[in-house]
Amino acid sequence: MALWAGRFSKEIDAGVNAFNSSISFDARMYRNDIQGSVAHAMMLGECGIITKEDSETIVKGLCEILKDLDDGTLEFDPNAEDIHMFVEAELTKRYGDVGKRLHTSRSRNDQVALDLRLYLRDEIVEIQGLVKKLAVVLTELAEKHTETVMPGYTHLQRAQPVTFAHHLLAYVQMLLRDLGRLEDTAKRMNVCPLGSGALAGTTYPINREMTANFLEFDAPMANSLDGVSDRDYCIELANTISIIMMHLSRFSEEIILWCSWEFKFIELDDAFATGSSIMPQKKNPDITELIRGKTARVYGDLQTLLVMMKGTPLAYNKDMQEDKEAIFDAVDTVKLCLETFIPMIETMQVKKENMRAAAAKGFINATDCADYLVKKGMPFRDAYKISGTLVAKCINENLTLETLPLEAYQEMTPLFTEDVYEAISLETCVKGRISQGGPSPEAVAKQIALVKSQLEME
Ligand code: ARG
Repeated sequence: MALWAGRFSKEIDAGVNAFNSSISFDARMYRNDIQGSVAHAMMLGECGIITKEDSETIVKGLCEILKDLDDGTLEFDPNAEDIHMFVEAELTKRYGDVGKRLHTSRSRNDQVALDLRLYLRDEIVEIQGLVKKLAVVLTELAEKHTETVMPGYTHLQRAQPVTFAHHLLAYVQMLLRDLGRLEDTAKRMNVCPLGSGALAGTTYPINREMTANFLEFDAPMANSLDGVSDRDYCIELANTISIIMMHLSRFSEEIILWCSWEFKFIELDDAFATGSSIMPQKKNPDITELIRGKTARVYGDLQTLLVMMKGTPLAYNKDMQEDKEAIFDAVDTVKLCLETFIPMIETMQVKKENMRAAAAKGFINATDCADYLVKKGMPFRDAYKISGTLVAKCINENLTLETLPLEAYQEMTPLFTEDVYEAISLETCVKGRISQGGPSPEAVAKQIALVKSQLEME
C-alpha cells in the first residue's frame, strides 16, 4: 500500500507504478535524504512539534537505516515510488507510529529539492578537485616547455610563433574560469528549501534557520513557492559543466590533430590509446574522441533541464522528477571525462622537434619581417606588403624567409640588412613577444607565477 493510499479505493496499476517511480535513479541520494530527515526530525523535537523522545528514536532509526544501506544489509525496494517514500516506509516498518511522525510539516516537494541540493553540493566539490588537478598538471607541463617553440594557428593555418607552455596556459585560464563558475554555482545553490512544505509553508511552528544551520546552508530560501519549484541550481550546474566539457572537447580536438601523422606534436601513451580491429598500424585517440562526443550528451542534459522548466507553472510539477537523470548524467560524465583526461595528459610524450619543425614552415615569422621594417621607419602597411611579396617569392622558389638570399630582400628595400635573419629567427620572434600575456619566456613565467598562486600550488 502506498503511503498516500487513504484517498484511493484501488492499488496503483503496476505499469503506472513503474512509470511513476524514480527510485531506480534517485536511490543514489539516500545519504542526503537521511541527512535531511535527521535535521528535520531534530528540529521537530527542538520546537516541541514532536516529543524529544520520538525525535531521538527517529534519528536513531534513520542512522540504522543509513548504516544498513551503506553495508548492503538493506536493499532498495524497486517498487517504492522514490527514495523518500522508501526511507520513510522502512523507518515505519522498524519503529511503527514514531516513524509515521517524521513527515510532520514536510512534503516530498521540499524534501526532494533539499536532497538534490545536498547531493549536488558534494558533487561540485569533487568536480572542483578534478578541474583544479587538471589545471595543476597543465601548469607543471607548461613549466617544462617555456622554450618549446610551436606554431600558433588561426583558421588552423600557421599564424605566429608561440610556445607549447603558452598554448597550455590558455587552457589553464579556461579552467580557472570554470573553477570560478563552479564556486559561484555552489554559492547560489547553498540555500535551504526545507520548510517550504508542499508549496505554502506550514502551520507548525518550525524553525527553518535551525535546519538550514544543521545542514550547513547559508540561509533558508526566502519564498516557499520558489523553494519547491526552483531548479535554477540544476540548470546553472549543467551550464557550468557544459562549459567545462566544451573546454575539454576543444582540447581533445587539438590532441586528435596533434597525434595525427600530419602533426605528430605529441604521442599518447600506449595505455591511453586503442588499436584498430583491421588496420595493424593504427593507434587511435579514442579517449579524446569520446570526450568530444560526450560533450554533445552533456549539452543535451542542459537542454533537457531548460526545456523541462520552461512551461511548468508554480509550484511543483511531476515534470521536475526528470531533473535528476539529466543532472546526474552531466555530473557523472564530466567527472569520468576529467578522470580519464588527466592521466592521459600526464603520460603523453611531447615531440618538441616536430613542433619546432612545423614552426619553421608556414612563414609564421612574416609579421616579424614586416615589424623589422617598421622598426627601421617604414609605415606598417607598406612593410606588410613587402613581407607578403617576399612570402610569395619564397613559395614560388620553394624557399623560406630564413633561406631567402639577402639580395632578394634588398631588391624590395635597402632597409633590409644582414641582421634581418636574426630578426626573423623563430627564437627571436618568440622572445620578442614580451607583451603581457604573450608567449615570450619572461611573459610566460609571469603567467605561470600568477596561475600557481591562483591554484595555490606553492
Ligand atoms: N520523486 C519525486 C521527484 O523526484 C519526489 C517529489 C514528489 N512530489 C510529489 N508531489 N509527487 O520529483
